[in-house]
Amino acid sequence: PTRLAIFISGTGSNMEALLEACEEDDYPAKPVLVLANKASAGGLEKAKARGIQTVVVDHKVFGGDREAFEHAIQAELEKHDVEFIALAGFMRVLTPWFIGKWEGKMINIHPSLLPSFPGLHTHQRAIAAKCRLHGCSVHYVTAGVDEGPIIGQAAVPIFPDDTPDTLAARVLVAEHKLYPACLEAAVSDDQNSSYVQMSDDPDAPFIISAP
Ligand code: GAR
Repeated sequence: PTRLAIFISGTGSNMEALLEACEEDDYPAKPVLVLANKASAGGLEKAKARGIQTVVVDHKVFGGDREAFEHAIQAELEKHDVEFIALAGFMRVLTPWFIGKWEGKMINIHPSLLPSFPGLHTHQRAIAAKCRLHGCSVHYVTAGVDEGPIIGQAAVPIFPDDTPDTLAARVLVAEHKLYPACLEAAVSDDQNSSYVQMSDDPDAPFIISAP
């Protein structure tokens, strides 16, 4: 299996979904490192509880020198022979240097149906725009923030009484299904595993994944 690092900044629920998937027989990735840019990231304890190696590379130590921060990250990745990176709620923008090094080997999950709503506050913006559908996207990381080739997407309805929080919770359920499916497609470089999954349950995500 491909040696995987997962980068987090917070709760790490997507990280947990990936770690769970990696425990399945025949899953093509093996988590060897969880890296956080904050010691307070809640996901660190969850990773440790599953016996996964963790490391904190605190961006603040580098006083705004983003490449120095990334050189420290790169050293950790080399130490653990990492082959593929999944960003899972990692809230630092990476430089072209780092992205170039990992091109085609680094993916991200973003909480909107890209190319709509790149950036922050996606749920609030989708409600304000009166969208009827919203969701999440998994994409390769390229120099343009939230602009890389899309691997898969999951859509959920927006209901009239939704708040950013209720919508975020619905999208998060979809994220946890989408990310393991897309990671699997990406590490096995599967160009043909497109599928559509629908459900009668209005709260269930409508998943379209097209590598
Ligand atoms: C997720 O909703 C993820 O899509 C989002 O942050 C949340 C992290 O939750 N990512 C971004 O906004 C990236 N810019 P988690 O820590 O529980 O996985």
